Amino acid sequence: MAVICADSLAMLPSRAVHIGHQVDTLHATTSMCSSCDEDEAMCTAEEHLAIKEIGGELASGYGEITVGGLLTLGTVLKLGPNDVFVDCGSGNGRAVVQAARDFGLKRALGIEFATSRHERAVALGKPEAAVSFLQGDCADMIRWTEGGELSDCTCAYANNKLFDDLLNARLKACFEECASLRCVAAFTPWPGGLTGFAEPVEVRCETTWSQASPVYVYERRNALLPSWWSGEVEGALVALLLVVVWNVVAAT
Ligand SMILES: C[S@@+](CC[C@H](N)C(=O)[O-])C[C@H]1O[C@@H](n2cnc3c(N)ncnc32)[C@H](O)[C@@H]1O
Repeated sequence: MAVICADSLAMLPSRAVHIGHQVDTLHATTSMCSSCDEDEAMCTAEEHLAIKEIGGELASGYGEITVGGLLTLGTVLKLGPNDVFVDCGSGNGRAVVQAARDFGLKRALGIEFATSRHERAVALGKPEAAVSFLQGDCADMIRWTEGGELSDCTCAYANNKLFDDLLNARLKACFEECASLRCVAAFTPWPGGLTGFAEPVEVRCETTWSQASPVYVYERRNALLPSWWSGEVEGALVALLLVVVWNVVAAT
């Protein structure tokens, strides 16, 4: 059994991580992370190898957004009854179940590669009618295109801090392809942005590795507005309009 904990990665300058036994080149240590339940963060050595194949050496690492962190994020995302939320790399499923309960979502989905984590998530989500979990690669394009299980999602969340560049690039392509998405939240932003979405807004959310971890929130850009349009531009134009109205009123 192997466990790699994202908490330790974020806390340390080196790439020493919290693992149950030696995995490839990673350092073995068991005492750096106090906030993860070691048993729950586990995945098998076979699962680690399979995840590594498609997401890089660290992609099977584990860490969670906390209850408070998800409350902050869900509020910023304005999650509500019209939303279909998906957690890409849903681990043990806590964020999915909490999102469904706290925000009364239409549906909440999680997709997780590691079968053992997926099975824990399925058990956790059983009582919730609006919750479902898929096992597999969250960046599998076929799931995001018309008719796919994720093709009607409105909000996507990815705790993608430990995903490698290739997996993040594949995930980006899926988000850009999915026309129903109105927002995306990710721990690692995409340098060129997401096509069709505005520049990300940084939100600080509590995680098991930090009290205020930056999460980048992308909102779908209104197709009728020019690409340079942003919340700041809108605010400045409203302020300008108010000044003009004020001057007109004062002059009459
Ligand atoms: C850091 S944990 C996040 C847990 C949870 N989403 C949260 O934020 O609280 C990331 C999860 O992504 C999973 N994962 C890694 N690569 C994946 C892939 N290609 N498809 C689906 N899940 C993947 C890992 O196994 C791990 O459980």
